[in-house]
Amino acid sequence: MWTKRPLFLLSVAAATTTLAGPNCPPLGPVYEKPNNFNTSSAIQAAVANLTATFTAWDQNNSSAIRANTTSYSIEVFSTSKEHPVIFEWHHTAASLEAATNTSGVRKTDANAVYRLGSLTKIFTVYTWLAQDGDSKWNEPITKYVPELAAAAERAKSDPVANVAWDEVTIGSLAGYQILAYALEAIKGKSFQTMMEESVLRPLGLNHTYYMNAPASEGIIPGTPKDAEWTYQLGDESPAGNMYSSVGDISALGRSIMRSDILSPVLTRRWLKPASMSSELIAGVGYPWGVRRVTVPYANGKRVVDAFNKAGRIGYYASLLVLLPDYDVGFSVLIAGDNIPGNTNFNMADILGAQLVPALEAAAREQAQAKFSGDYVDEAGRSWLQLTTQEDRPGLGVENWVSNMTDMQTIAVVMQGGYAPVSPSVRLYPTGLETVRADGSRKVAFKAVFEDLNLPARTGAMFSTDCGTWVSFTGVTYGTLPLDQFVFEVDARGSVVSIENLGLRSVMRRRR
Ligand SMILES: *[C@@H]1O[C@H](CO)[C@@H](O)[C@H](O)[C@H]1NC(C)=O
Ligand SMILES: *[C@@H]1O[C@H](CO)[C@@H](O)[C@H](O)[C@H]1NC(C)=O
Ligand SMILES: *[C@@H]1O[C@H](CO)[C@@H](O)[C@H](O)[C@H]1NC(C)=O
Ligand SMILES: *[C@@H]1O[C@H](CO)[C@@H](O)[C@H](O)[C@H]1NC(C)=O
Ligand SMILES: *[C@@H]1O[C@H](CO)[C@@H](O)[C@H](O)[C@H]1NC(C)=O
Ligand SMILES: *[C@@H]1O[C@H](CO)[C@@H](O)[C@H](O)[C@H]1NC(C)=O
Ligand SMILES: *[C@@H]1O[C@H](CO)[C@@H](O)[C@H](O)[C@H]1NC(C)=O
Ligand SMILES: *[C@@H]1O[C@H](CO)[C@@H](O)[C@H](O)[C@H]1NC(C)=O
Repeated sequence: MWTKRPLFLLSVAAATTTLAGPNCPPLGPVYEKPNNFNTSSAIQAAVANLTATFTAWDQNNSSAIRANTTSYSIEVFSTSKEHPVIFEWHHTAASLEAATNTSGVRKTDANAVYRLGSLTKIFTVYTWLAQDGDSKWNEPITKYVPELAAAAERAKSDPVANVAWDEVTIGSLAGYQILAYALEAIKGKSFQTMMEESVLRPLGLNHTYYMNAPASEGIIPGTPKDAEWTYQLGDESPAGNMYSSVGDISALGRSIMRSDILSPVLTRRWLKPASMSSELIAGVGYPWGVRRVTVPYANGKRVVDAFNKAGRIGYYASLLVLLPDYDVGFSVLIAGDNIPGNTNFNMADILGAQLVPALEAAAREQAQAKFSGDYVDEAGRSWLQLTTQEDRPGLGVENWVSNMTDMQTIAVVMQGGYAPVSPSVRLYPTGLETVRADGSRKVAFKAVFEDLNLPARTGAMFSTDCGTWVSFTGVTYGTLPLDQFVFEVDARGSVVSIENLGLRSVMRRRR
């Protein structure tokens, strides 16, 4: 029996207008993660542009850039084993190259050590999560740092002059010094020991230092004292004391996106905003800054969430950006005696503008090569075609027929409760796959059934033209969803067939 979960339908009955609504994918990647970095023409073009842009940048001594006094290293990294670094760029300031008596290295590279400032906080939270998970994040900090209880008590009568610490949870705590005290109280070890044990050593971050990094590995403009290379934050170290190289920051970023240390489910919880902000496209995480990046599709809505953390201390600036939708990120470390304000984010703007559209295009090219084609069942009574389009996200399903019934229309009828004018079926990866001992695998995709002949509702306060997420698994047959598709992929990575679970229909791929 086909059953339909009762839904609060966001869709309205088919309008008679000719306005075409956009395709609305679920949040998250709309293709499998790209791994075709050295063959994708989009990536090659992006790398060529970045090379030209940073070549010009390095000649620019204007007050906005100060290439002659600012050294920096950039890596764009991926979790792919074959292509760990997609792009790297290193620039040593003429003033540092010319310095005869610097205490540090004379040339920057992937291993040159810079100070991080607040980017340290990512190492701190990572250490907490690796040691203790996030199960205590909603508990009051006073439970683990009882010294704060007295102030909490005073806050009851005078909340202006005292902090109500008993209402501050571990997850919301902005004081990283106190966070470290709490973890030390829970685990009975020093915070530095825990960071080395849980993060630095397991990841082999040999160019990362919690404190007192050796000057001989550093990029040090001017004297160590002027650069604040030697300045130590003491008990506030978990908030900003650390030192690292772009190679190590990239390794840190890969390990987070690969869930090397944390479980995948904990990683997913960590890479989420904890709060919105007063800016529509920005949120705040633990302690990520979240930027919501629009990937422009002529006929589709697509948002990529970027998770970043920046830092600034002495003569140094830093930035880590993660793009989990592509398993790609970038690390930027900068040193100079007069770094122009916002240099780290200016570089991120340049990198992001080139990379995000290129990564989306690379993922689409890869999906086209892997999945596109005709799929037909054994009896020749069921079939569909898969293809990608430049103007729409995801894998497009065309001409879907099941046992001689037009499913393209029926699926949208069953989903929406009315006859669609312009039915659309598109598939998006779920990230779920079952790998067998022989290397073959089942890979799950979720379908979105839409009628595109609905008015666009971009300006409305409550109505939306992108609410498809409410209708997943809305139509089932004998407990299995009509919107669930599973690909059979052989050990060589070739797609063999597609199955619709609701219809129990297996269609083999013909090329
Ligand atoms: C890089 O691409 C941007 C955006 O397309 C363009 O404005 C810029 O001129 C390009 N830069 C170079 C050096 O090609
Ligand atoms: C140097 O950079 C500034 C700021 O981006 C820019 O306005 C200027 O045109 C650049 N100068 C050259 C010679 O490229
Ligand atoms: C860097 O370049 C600017 C602009 O040409 C110049 O004024 C300044 O003296 C240079 N600094 C050094 C240390 O060479
Ligand atoms: C920038 O400054 C460096 C060192 O001060 C100098 O060698 C270089 O020629 C300058 N570049 C430009 C474009 O003026
Ligand atoms: C691209 O990288 C793959 C490894 O993933 C390698 O086998 C191949 O030769 C490379 N192709 C080019 C054109 O560099
Ligand atoms: C870090 O150093 C250790 C000990 O010397 C070494 O075994 C390890 O391979 C190094 N890790 C990396 C990534 O270089
Ligand atoms: C290099 O030596 C000069 C002259 O003794 C001194 O003024 C300067 O501070 C030194 N620079 C560094 C980086 O030690
Ligand atoms: C396919 O349709 C035919 C004719 O309507 C019907 O007899 C048959 O049972 C259907 N097969 C399946 C698997 O539903």
